[in-house]
Amino acid sequence: ETVPLEMHKVRIVQKLSLPPVERRLEKITEAGNNTFLLKNDDVFLDMLTDSGVNAMSDRQQAAMLVADDSYAGSATYTRLEDKLRDIFGMHYFLPTHQGRACEHILAKVFVSPGKVVPMNYHFTTTKAHITLQGGSVEELVTDAGLEVVSVNPFKGNMDIAKLRAVIGQHGAGNIAFVRMESGTNLIGGQPFSLANLAEVSNVCKEHGVPLVLDASLLADNLYFNKTREDHCKAMSIREITRRTADLCDIIYFSARKLGCARGGGICIRDRALFEKMRPLVPLYEGFLTYGGMSVREMEALTVGLEETMDEEMINQGPMFIGYMVEQLQERGVPVITPAGGLGCHIDAKRFVDHIPQSQYPAGALASALYIASGIRGMERGTLSEQREPDGSEIFANMELVRLALPRRVFTLSQVKYAVDRIAWLYDNRHLIGGLTFVEEPEVLRFFYGLLEPV
Ligand code: F0G
Repeated sequence: ETVPLEMHKVRIVQKLSLPPVERRLEKITEAGNNTFLLKNDDVFLDMLTDSGVNAMSDRQQAAMLVADDSYAGSATYTRLEDKLRDIFGMHYFLPTHQGRACEHILAKVFVSPGKVVPMNYHFTTTKAHITLQGGSVEELVTDAGLEVVSVNPFKGNMDIAKLRAVIGQHGAGNIAFVRMESGTNLIGGQPFSLANLAEVSNVCKEHGVPLVLDASLLADNLYFNKTREDHCKAMSIREITRRTADLCDIIYFSARKLGCARGGGICIRDRALFEKMRPLVPLYEGFLTYGGMSVREMEALTVGLEETMDEEMINQGPMFIGYMVEQLQERGVPVITPAGGLGCHIDAKRFVDHIPQSQYPAGALASALYIASGIRGMERGTLSEQREPDGSEIFANMELVRLALPRRVFTLSQVKYAVDRIAWLYDNRHLIGGLTFVEEPEVLRFFYGLLEPV
């Protein structure tokens, strides 16, 4: 076995508790079998997400103490803007309170009824904002990207032929922008290659369509470029980052993942595009020099962005995830391969192959895993989709339970505990039944919908 090695020491700890199984059953029932509705006090290992829950470094904490508080023109903001210019080489920046706020602004400015947004794969909040503006999403990930068991190192790649076909079909004038998502979240944190991004960029340039990068999971993508892509091996993380940015017109990100802090923002190369989006920031987010972020968050983010350029900082997530995936595979548990970033993704379609998609197998498995272990994962399958306007279900391509590994938060023995409990549940999978909605919200239903056993 390849054991990952922590390149940090732990100097602040947070006490955990492991509630007994009877209490776990009671709590998940109260939560409508929706892991989003559990209270963290009732959770042992919170693997719901890597968003806003990564460990901060001593340098980030220190920077938070020297933050310059002011409504307008704070030195903290200038430091953040300078750092972003330094690493991405784009001149303009708009701060936001988090990633989906960037998506809101991009959708408001670029998307109108009939407009199409081709992307390697959708993210829940991205798609919701685009469809809210009357636009639609075209998912152009390569067919290989949807193969659950694979050795393809870049399952997040876009299919260039499909991109050309979609532009041809709708006409370049109806393409709002093309979106590439680093560390493609919903297919298991799978990266795209720098070479693929370059091809996408060429097609965009040919047709005069802006290329937008969702860089929320850029840290993982950079690590995989560096370790899996031959022509990147001799490049530094900083060089790969700049090469990536140079291919794009706009880069937006959730700083809850990138930079291991809070907040978000949009980096823009072109002044005209910047001016189109700028008015929406004071309207929805806050003044142009904070955009809804606190100065402390901005200081932590500035340091976090710099730390993202350090391979020994960004390798921790992928290395621990790689270990967890390898251990589960050895025990016969169906998982997404190759291991990606963000977390370990269990393939619920195979894990509970007796539960039909209409009964939300991934939701059922996430709920059962909490009962069996006190571990909170997240459903990433049909529950996370939105119904068609006529009320019919959209069955997800993949039914996943995502067990996020917040960066530098869990120890190897905690990961071993997770592996042990998941393997136990797999051996006893016949105990797991399907779910049905009791209360179903219309938009982003997975966040607060309530379910019960079928
Ligand atoms: N884009 C990607 C790829 C994301 O993973 C997320 C958030 C967002 C945009 C939205 O950013 O949360 O700051 O508003 N993903 C979180 C997750 C919620 O758990 O995967 P946000």
